[in-house]
Amino acid sequence: MTRINEAISIRVDGDIGVILANHPPVNALSHVVREGLVHAVEALCADAAVKAIVLACEGRTFFAGADITEFGKPKREPSLQQAIKALETAPKPVVAAIHGTALGGGFEVALGCHFRVMVPTAKVGLPEITLGLFAGAGGTQRLPRLIGPEKALDYVLSGKPVNAAEAVAAGIVDAVIDDTPLDAGLRHARTIIDQNQPAIPVRNRTAKLAAAQADPGAFDARAQALAPKTFGPLAAAANIASVRRSFTLPLDEALAEDAKANAELMAGPQSRALRHLFFAEREAAKLPNLPADTRPREIARVAVVGAGTMGGGIAMSFAAAGLPVVLIDATREALDRGMDRIRANYASSVKRGSLSDARRNEQLALIQGTTDRKAAADVDLVVEAVFENMDVKVEIFRDLGAITRPGTILSSNTSALDVDAIAASCGRPQDFIGLHFFAPANVMKLLEVVKAAASSPETIATAMAVGRRIGKVPVLSGNCDGFIGNRILAKRSAAVERLLQQGALPQDIDRAMRGFGFPMGPLEINDMSGLDVGWSIRKRRGTPFPIADAICERGWFGQKTGRGYYLYEAGGRTPLPNPEVEALILDTSARLGIQRRPLSDEEIVERALYPLINEAARVVVEGIALRPSDVDVTFANGFGWPRWRGGPLFHADLVGLPKVVERLTAFRADTDDPSLEPAPLLRELAAAGTTFAEWQKART
Ligand code: COA
Repeated sequence: MTRINEAISIRVDGDIGVILANHPPVNALSHVVREGLVHAVEALCADAAVKAIVLACEGRTFFAGADITEFGKPKREPSLQQAIKALETAPKPVVAAIHGTALGGGFEVALGCHFRVMVPTAKVGLPEITLGLFAGAGGTQRLPRLIGPEKALDYVLSGKPVNAAEAVAAGIVDAVIDDTPLDAGLRHARTIIDQNQPAIPVRNRTAKLAAAQADPGAFDARAQALAPKTFGPLAAAANIASVRRSFTLPLDEALAEDAKANAELMAGPQSRALRHLFFAEREAAKLPNLPADTRPREIARVAVVGAGTMGGGIAMSFAAAGLPVVLIDATREALDRGMDRIRANYASSVKRGSLSDARRNEQLALIQGTTDRKAAADVDLVVEAVFENMDVKVEIFRDLGAITRPGTILSSNTSALDVDAIAASCGRPQDFIGLHFFAPANVMKLLEVVKAAASSPETIATAMAVGRRIGKVPVLSGNCDGFIGNRILAKRSAAVERLLQQGALPQDIDRAMRGFGFPMGPLEINDMSGLDVGWSIRKRRGTPFPIADAICERGWFGQKTGRGYYLYEAGGRTPLPNPEVEALILDTSARLGIQRRPLSDEEIVERALYPLINEAARVVVEGIALRPSDVDVTFANGFGWPRWRGGPLFHADLVGLPKVVERLTAFRADTDDPSLEPAPLLRELAAAGTTFAEWQKART
């Protein structure tokens, strides 16, 4: 073995040259790797004994992508395009031996090789769009040459990884070989040498481009049908434009355009926002305040208490990760209803094609219903999801504390009650924690892990680990009214009510918020979830909303009653303007002595979102959220905040904190709401000319 540098070594096995990369944790294509690759290819090509070259990686994966930590920093040559060109122009056939996840740059390296083999568990993909970019090192040029531009759109616009079986069927790789990655590569190289196969680079395979050249309209139609909204308008358009270059420009010209276009995206706010969330979601998993030797407990069996909509969705989340669940409800009827709802949910997934029949049967078989609470005796985790009533929860946890083994984690899905009070009832408060799922629980990614005062480090670590295991994005929250998300969101709800009084109509507010990038406006959402829920909470708290309350007093609770902020045609879900509500809004403004005035979409967005940002600053200072980026992760995964806008505090940094303070001060002046007073942290950072991101960095 000869070391080229700290990341790359080479050796010669008879007539096969081997390039091995070792750059933990994920063999990202950092500068040292790119440089090593170029020298390794040179060295092996100069060796007359070598007839073919295998490129493989040690550790858990083939190159997992470009090094995202280098993004936005000055470029160092060789660039990834140059390193790939060195492989592609090698006069000897190069075989990429893929294991783990060859994503982005990793897959582009493989596309630069003359042959590709995968082990059966490997995946390839171009997830750049999820970071607001496209595969600018040739992915969007070479993939269309292999499988055709239209088919390539499927992969680049979804960003989804492709497994080995699909990759070989689609013609993306040459073979799937069940062996160690290196031996898989060596076996394929042997065949190539024995059969005297030539080293034809992907750049020369142009047959698949002909169809798109002949019918560019079909390409455009497919592009339009597939373009996702999630990752921002810029990235979707840039991915489509780049794939189009595969059949309109020679490869080297297309690559030059790609490099320019991707550099622009990289410097722009949308990609910065998406990259911020990539790292923020990984940061949220880190718990600096726990002792370093804290280990999560093993979770092998779960009980969910309460077979309502939430309980059912929670049970499905565990079953999807292969964990057996016992679903417990007090009565046979409630249990049957719950199981029927679960079956119906699975049936609609199968019908949509998002779940296979076999997977559905497997998952359904993992959920066993019972009316006997004692079934929780042999589980490792209990999630309670009955309705929000403290007395009921206290009774359940007193019982569960006695039924379950010591060490079983006891958790509540409460969204509004004091977790310390619930913890006190179970007799083992150190084993208790809040697990706040979001509806629909089997779909939404966010999981607020709510630490009670007595929750042990092990309990916290276990809750975070199990959350990740079931594919959620867990965020640790302190205990307060509404926890991180709903506490902050309440400030937007108050702001929306105020906007209605000041001059906006429901459709104005929803249009402005959709324009910002939310998938739905706040009032459409309220109508969908039912206005009576918020009304009863406001009555309990003594915090009236004159317009919202007046709508509820008329018995208009949203979609389920056919009218709310909007009108709905019988059984329909399309919101239509509601003249009666508009009259009611005008009356309320007049009654409150408010002179209505036109509000631009920009002002609506500022008035709705800056109070939310202000509350987020308080939540961070109080330690309810561990760090500003945790607030961003919460809103991007549980509250529809557009990912390409990075989250509330990323957005505040981008707007500039002095502007946020200045606008809040103006909003405060025309209302009697003291919570609009700019939070001390916000004022402090604005005055110092710094950002939430800088403040976070200085504290870690
Ligand atoms: N560049 C730099 N660092 C990276 C990276 C990349 N492309 N991909 C992952 N990492 C880092 C993570 O930040 C994490 O660091 P940390 O331990 O300090 O938090 C570490 O590698 C492990 O990543 P993680 O995501 O926790 O591991 P995993 O096994 O769950 O997933 C991947 C591995 C490769 C599937 C996942 O990290 C991923 O999707 N990476 C991005 C791939 C990508 O988008 N590539 C395209 C860029 S062109």
